Amino acid sequence: MVSRVIPVDPFDLVIFGGTGDLARRKILPALYRRFRDGQMPEEARIIGAARTNQDGAAWRAWVREAFDEFLRPDEISDDVVAAFLERLDYLAIDATGDGGWSDLKDKMRDDVTQAFYFSVGPSLFGALAERLHNHGIAREGARIVVEKPFGRDLDSACALNATLAEHFDETQIYRIDHYLGKETVQNLMAVRFGNVLFEPLWNAQYVDSVQITVAEEVSVAGRGAYYDRSGAMRDMVQNHLMQLLCLTAMEPPSRFDPDAVRDEKLKVIRALDPVEPSDIVRGQYDDGMGPSYIDDVEDPASRTESFIAMKLHIANWRWNGTPFYLRTGKRLKARKSEIVVTFKEPPHSIFDADAGSRANVLSIRLQPDEGMDLRVTIKEPGPGGMRLVDVPLDMSFAEALGPEAEHVPDAYERLIMDVIRGNQTLFMRGDEVEAAWAWTDPIIAAWKERGDKPVTYEAGSSGPEEALMLLHRDGRRWREIS
Ligand code: BG6
Repeated sequence: MVSRVIPVDPFDLVIFGGTGDLARRKILPALYRRFRDGQMPEEARIIGAARTNQDGAAWRAWVREAFDEFLRPDEISDDVVAAFLERLDYLAIDATGDGGWSDLKDKMRDDVTQAFYFSVGPSLFGALAERLHNHGIAREGARIVVEKPFGRDLDSACALNATLAEHFDETQIYRIDHYLGKETVQNLMAVRFGNVLFEPLWNAQYVDSVQITVAEEVSVAGRGAYYDRSGAMRDMVQNHLMQLLCLTAMEPPSRFDPDAVRDEKLKVIRALDPVEPSDIVRGQYDDGMGPSYIDDVEDPASRTESFIAMKLHIANWRWNGTPFYLRTGKRLKARKSEIVVTFKEPPHSIFDADAGSRANVLSIRLQPDEGMDLRVTIKEPGPGGMRLVDVPLDMSFAEALGPEAEHVPDAYERLIMDVIRGNQTLFMRGDEVEAAWAWTDPIIAAWKERGDKPVTYEAGSSGPEEALMLLHRDGRRWREIS
């Protein structure tokens, strides 16, 4: 199956924080891949901007080195890399002063799409937005891209939104949640709204429960200072898991367009019931042999969670009575992210009690091995009478779609091209981010007030016992993290 690559319009993309980790790891490799596949026109230009005083050649050499580290060897073709690097330029810019801004103005072309990627800490968003405006650099229709964390609570998120709104309107602001760029997350919408099969059953009458798991093997070592101030709730639940929840639970939007989709997601967040303390489990990894969480963050008194499991209720007609279980953590058994929808058992069985009966389960695998699997009940083969078994109708995208799907595009490839195309569907709107914080804040405040301390879990496990109990007491089980 050959995928269509539609080139985007010519553009100038300025990456503030052009010498940073995200630029090296994600943004530039993603741009290279889009260039290699013919999506980036000849006239595209990428300008790195950062404090470091260096010329374009030095930045290009740095980017070339990053490619060796962050692209697979089979993706690197010297000719293509050379042609890509020709599109790169660099400027030393002082984000909080005046140095470099007039040079940037001179470099920007009038007749191409403009995008400014703020790959810097949120404390610089305001300074950058103001200078782009005051120096007359950003034209009407220019886009700005901002990364998470978008605030650390409702107040700070509102303040950031207000700062950006001073110089840019909402249609110009692209707030990245890279989970929305993941191929399978987009597929969730295709499956729900592109088939007649699922939507009639997608409600409390037929769905027993939903599990959303984002399990990671990595620890927080190396980013302990940031992480310890955030914890799993701020780092993963408020944004990535919340977005997955919204796409799973939202009503069908009338069109696949930015505001129609984001309106429906927002309604889900606003319909969330407050969470009972007994429906949340917070954990910290402990490793008898290796470093534990408190070693990684270098604070023996830390009460920040590296794991969280919770049970949520969405108070609306569609979902009344169907629990949504969310779980995420570091240093778990495996890297595995999936959304699992467990349907109810048939209301009446025509078979003997010993035939067994099983529920249909749809699992949507985000990573690794993107794909979907629907378990259906059939008769066990053989002459032994009517005994039921459940078998997977399995679809690995790589297998089903052939070599084209083998290397699923990185989320950033899709998202950056969407910025250039001017499509905000997979970006968070300001009110969504605020609503997610409005839901998160009281939970975090309650932990603080109670002096809540996370329980420990063994590194390399599936998380704390207490998290298993959260489902056991409802007569359910988590899916294996393996
Ligand atoms: C980031 C979090 O947003 O997402 C990290 O800050 C986390 O803590 C990462 O590891 C997970 O992303 P992915 O794409 O590897 O699942």
